[in-house]
Amino acid sequence: MSFTVEETKIKLQSTGDDLVFFVNGKKITEKNAEPEITLLTYLRRSLGLTGTKLGCAEGGCGACTLMVSKYHPHQNRIIHHAVNACLAPLCSLHHCAVTTVEGIGSVASKLHPVQERIAKAHGSQCGFCTPGIVMSMYALLRSNPQPSMHDIQEAFQGNLCRCTGYRPILEVTCLKTHSCEVKPTVDDNSMLPAQKLYDQSEFMPLDPTQEIIFPPELMVRIKLRELRFVGERVLWIQPCSLKELLELKATYPNAKLVVGNTEVGIEMKFKNLLYPVILAPAYIPELNIIQHTQDGIEVGASVTLTVLGDVLRAAVKKLPTHQTEVFEAVLEQLRWFAGQQIRNVAAVGGNIMTASPISDLNPVFMAAGCKLTVMSKGATFLLLFFCGQYFSAFKQSPRKEDDIAIVTSGMNVLFKEKSNIVQSIRISYGGMAPVTVLATATCNRLLNRQWNEELLEQACTSLAEEMSLSPSAPGGMVTYRRTLTISLFYKFFLTVQHKLVHINRHLATLSVHCVFADCFTLFPCFQAVPPGDNSDDVVGHPIMHLSALKHATGEAIYCDDIPCYENELRLALVTSTKAHALIKSIDTSDAMEVPGVVAFISAKDIPGSNLTGPVTCVGHIVGAIVADTQAHAQRAAKAVKISYEELHPVIVTIQDAIANKSFYQPVRSMERGDVAQGFKDSDHILHGKMHIGGQEQFYLETNCTVAVPRGEDGEMELFVSTQAASKTQALVAKALGVPANRVVCRVKRMGGGFGGKESRSTILSTVVAVAAYTLAFFFRTKRPVRCMLDRDEDMLVTGGRHPFFGHYKVGYMNNGRVNALDVTLYSNAGNSMDLSLSILERALFHMDNSYNIPNIHGTGYICKTNLPSNSAFRGFGGPQGMMIAESWMSDVALSCGLPAEEVRRMNMYKEGDFTPFNQRLDQFTIDLCWEECMQLSDFNMRKEAVEQYNRQHRWTKRGLAIIPTKFGISYTAVFLNQAGALVHVYSDGSVLLTHGGTEMGQGLHTKMVQVASKTLGIPCSKIHITETSTNTVPNTSPTAASVSSDLNGMAVYILIELRMIIFYRTPDLGYDFNTNSGRAFNYFSYGVAVSEVEIDCLTGSHKNLHTSIVMDVGKSLNPALDIGQVEGGFMQGLGLFTLEELRYSPDGYLYTRGPGMYKIPSFGDIPIELKVSLLRDAPNEKAIFSSKAVGEPPLFLAASVFYAIKDAITVARAESGLTGPFRLDSPATPERIRNACEDKFTKLVCINFHC
Ligand SMILES: Cc1cc2nc3c(=O)[nH]c(=O)nc-3n(C[C@H](O)[C@H](O)[C@H](O)COP(=O)(O)OP(=O)(O)OC[C@H]3O[C@@H](n4cnc5c(N)ncnc54)[C@H](O)[C@@H]3O)c2cc1C
Ligand code: FES
Ligand code: FES
Repeated sequence: MSFTVEETKIKLQSTGDDLVFFVNGKKITEKNAEPEITLLTYLRRSLGLTGTKLGCAEGGCGACTLMVSKYHPHQNRIIHHAVNACLAPLCSLHHCAVTTVEGIGSVASKLHPVQERIAKAHGSQCGFCTPGIVMSMYALLRSNPQPSMHDIQEAFQGNLCRCTGYRPILEVTCLKTHSCEVKPTVDDNSMLPAQKLYDQSEFMPLDPTQEIIFPPELMVRIKLRELRFVGERVLWIQPCSLKELLELKATYPNAKLVVGNTEVGIEMKFKNLLYPVILAPAYIPELNIIQHTQDGIEVGASVTLTVLGDVLRAAVKKLPTHQTEVFEAVLEQLRWFAGQQIRNVAAVGGNIMTASPISDLNPVFMAAGCKLTVMSKGATFLLLFFCGQYFSAFKQSPRKEDDIAIVTSGMNVLFKEKSNIVQSIRISYGGMAPVTVLATATCNRLLNRQWNEELLEQACTSLAEEMSLSPSAPGGMVTYRRTLTISLFYKFFLTVQHKLVHINRHLATLSVHCVFADCFTLFPCFQAVPPGDNSDDVVGHPIMHLSALKHATGEAIYCDDIPCYENELRLALVTSTKAHALIKSIDTSDAMEVPGVVAFISAKDIPGSNLTGPVTCVGHIVGAIVADTQAHAQRAAKAVKISYEELHPVIVTIQDAIANKSFYQPVRSMERGDVAQGFKDSDHILHGKMHIGGQEQFYLETNCTVAVPRGEDGEMELFVSTQAASKTQALVAKALGVPANRVVCRVKRMGGGFGGKESRSTILSTVVAVAAYTLAFFFRTKRPVRCMLDRDEDMLVTGGRHPFFGHYKVGYMNNGRVNALDVTLYSNAGNSMDLSLSILERALFHMDNSYNIPNIHGTGYICKTNLPSNSAFRGFGGPQGMMIAESWMSDVALSCGLPAEEVRRMNMYKEGDFTPFNQRLDQFTIDLCWEECMQLSDFNMRKEAVEQYNRQHRWTKRGLAIIPTKFGISYTAVFLNQAGALVHVYSDGSVLLTHGGTEMGQGLHTKMVQVASKTLGIPCSKIHITETSTNTVPNTSPTAASVSSDLNGMAVYILIELRMIIFYRTPDLGYDFNTNSGRAFNYFSYGVAVSEVEIDCLTGSHKNLHTSIVMDVGKSLNPALDIGQVEGGFMQGLGLFTLEELRYSPDGYLYTRGPGMYKIPSFGDIPIELKVSLLRDAPNEKAIFSSKAVGEPPLFLAASVFYAIKDAITVARAESGLTGPFRLDSPATPERIRNACEDKFTKLVCINFHC
């Protein structure tokens, strides 16, 4: 029997209880607590506390982290936990104290030491992740004032930052721990005095006595009573005893139990599921028991994973080793289970009942033979842990930290007394079927066998047979998953054998578990500026990002933090579910029934320029719903019914496009020298191919627009998170059919852009503006309209970096000198041209990377596909062009049997050489960067150590690579190389500076204030920038192509010098593809990186051991910001080349739409040793104050990690007798690494799988 909410309300004859909790010390009594609302929505919308950010709404980014404190009556202590506010139901907070970033400090009053340190140590760039990071650290310190390095890394497992590269955050939060070797950030071996990036002595000490006190009112022992909260559609009941819970479950059989809400919350938000009755058993004493018994430990179903971890750790310390093997295995799984914020609320019972095929705990419970007691009425709900004799647990996931598993496993063997004969064995796997499975047949075959090589062989053969998957099994990676089942067993076999005989030749060579780094060496270094006469001249000094303190306190205002207008409406997009189709009809009748809905907006409402046609991708915007709240708008948008007539073909991949000859025009080509002759003159010719996957920008702040109709003369004011204020203004004016002078676009700051908000932000801002206009002029309601996309919507509609495919033919000499190259590039542009031509051109401009190939020819095709239009992303095609260059370079070295670094060095350009596009290389500094990087990384010693390691280890291998980059600086669309600035000097001496660039975390405003300060000769404190707006500086270029400091800096400088409103244009640019003449770039930025990695040949995991980077940024305007850009760019490149994968269905549906499925680098991915050095004595006469662009160039240096991985795989393959070039596509994921390390286990799967 189930009840509707209305029936339930009538039955209850009540509007529900008051929800009482505290926020930042203030008591809140909420009389109408809505069960469907999260704590995050409540804080931001009802309390106006916008410091806590929304980055994903699925517990995967940590931007919404805050601290929840509770009084534990049995332990008589207060427990503080970091929690994701985006998943915490408001109703779960009765009698809790919530502390948000605003509650711990502010710029106006006093900063908290954590806020101060992160800001002053340059730990924020765009600042959108910063409040969450601050709160993770704060919550850790509240429960553990002396955390170890390990504790800190664990606390940050659930936080992501897309800008900083994590080094400064880790560095400053570890300063107090002894385990982290943070070397001073000095100008190493320079003649100039040492200078630091920040001054530690300024930092306030941490004083735990100063923290806000836990509300005494919550410390009294309150008699538990049942609570009920009644919402629009959902009834929330919090019973206080098991008996009550069972009664309620009998009354409402369809009621959903919710403890941590980390699974149910996702179902409700993303799968559109509705549970009219929710039972919350989190506080039921019987479900929180932890009881030690003779056989193990009983654990109640509501016990959280954090508490379970604490209990097991204590048991491991206390009990003899043979009794704790299972506990250790559970602890190992918990270590990599989600992030700390999730573990703090997620319950053991929730994990079991979710019954996920890739559950981390169920395979362990199953292999351990745990008992699960379920009940309707009568018995206690408990788990019983058996102690295994020899027990191991494994989890293999693309990213080690906070990632869902590809395969999980628990393995348990018991031997007959005093022997190595198997008495019982249980092997379970997750990820190999819709539920966790036992390898029963294999286990039976191993009974009564000796634990030896013969058993191993039989087990592997049997597992290859038993753990089969169909080629189209959901989740893909079929060969890899099957290989893993055997490889993991092999690890278990060796571990047990070691324990049996205490020595094993192989074990020393096997890294069984990847562990946290015990120590990080983080070493940024730069050239200090000699003290000058003018103390106000801060150019060249590492001054802090001007918004850093506000980032850390949550006071920095982003688009969605703008206070709500009283009569504001919210918008939700209605998008196509077909990749290629005609829309036959749209039925909005159900949608209009949803409470609060005002209008459905579609193409016919567009008053200005309007083109319609078939939908050409999944996610194509079809219309929008405007309603009173976001929840109502989104609910209604999902209720819009669209009928389609499907069209063919559906083109998704580059290969589909090639097969269908689906290309945009023009096809570009570039040639220098005589390629045919070059091949003739070569000793050898090789052919190769490489595919480079796309990449999601994953700016932490998704696209957002607020459109405010002004009511006069068709005026519209837009607040937008965009890199392109003028383009936004122009497109909105065009869509509305009004002149540009009626539309003002204002940008305060962005929470990251990375190219993703250069053109694609306009698809949202235009829709929101049309909606506001339509309501104002047709419905006669002048109401502002706001939309901030959810992460899944943003990923679905906006596109990302272009995937590339390249094939090449290389002619080379015996000594490795490359004589001729013919390369063809294909980019996947998606359903519109957008910026794809310029991106392809940049890829061609970089097809040589840093190598002088005398005879070179490149052709580029832009593939037209049924994906959302791909767009700009840091590097803009350059990284893809250079990546393919490094692929043929690596192939040449492998074919010649020569060290790759020698072949690269031999082919590198020299001063005065010409590029394929006939541009002379002047002030060429790569060779300087190369030599310095060789030294910085101790390359030669490192190489020897790597070789020695590889001789001693069979199943883990190390690899090393050095990679240069040469990156052309300028927009290749010449008219964009211009900027403007405006200065107001007020009578009190203060200066308001405005320029055409936008602030997205790169510190542009900070650099512009430095330039203005030096030029005006006044302190920075006198100069202010409020925002970028089209009514102050018009017709600006987007903030992109790394040139914003160059262009806007020059505009600011000349403006102040000449005292007039000024536009600056880069002189003498203009390349012509037809004649291969004219200057393509103003100048080049150079850099070199060395990376060392270790791969696990059995699982394909890798660890980044070391990276040294030397980057030429000219005479740095601000070394702290520039080092931040180098590190941040490098980490994004690391994601591109080793981790991030967008996965589509064959009909163009994007599976990876959020941090749960799409993994960007996290704290644990930074190299254990990271050295970043800015090249000294390299002024650049072509840009402001001799500086150089820095935003995009360093990204490609992460290719050093990819080629270090390839180097390690080469060594592993040699052990199986495989030599010479082999194809490795990007990213080098665990799957690709494992499949490339061919060995007896991969062969076994292949034989069985007929591959
Ligand atoms: C960001 C993120 C990362 C994650 N990472 C991992 C991971 O690494 N590994 C992994 O295995 N999982 C992971 N999960 C999944 C999830 O966190 C776990 O399954 C978690 O243990 C669920 O617990 P919960 O208390 O939050 O469950 P809830 O969402 O509250 O409930 C989940 C299910 O269990 C049922 N249930 C809960 N308690 C009981 C009970 N006492 N009796 C009967 N049914 C009950 C509920 O009705 C519901 O069906 C992740 C989730 C998120 C959001
Ligand atoms: S917004 Fe909550 S974790 Fe991302
Ligand atoms: S500073 Fe971390 S996401 Fe931008």
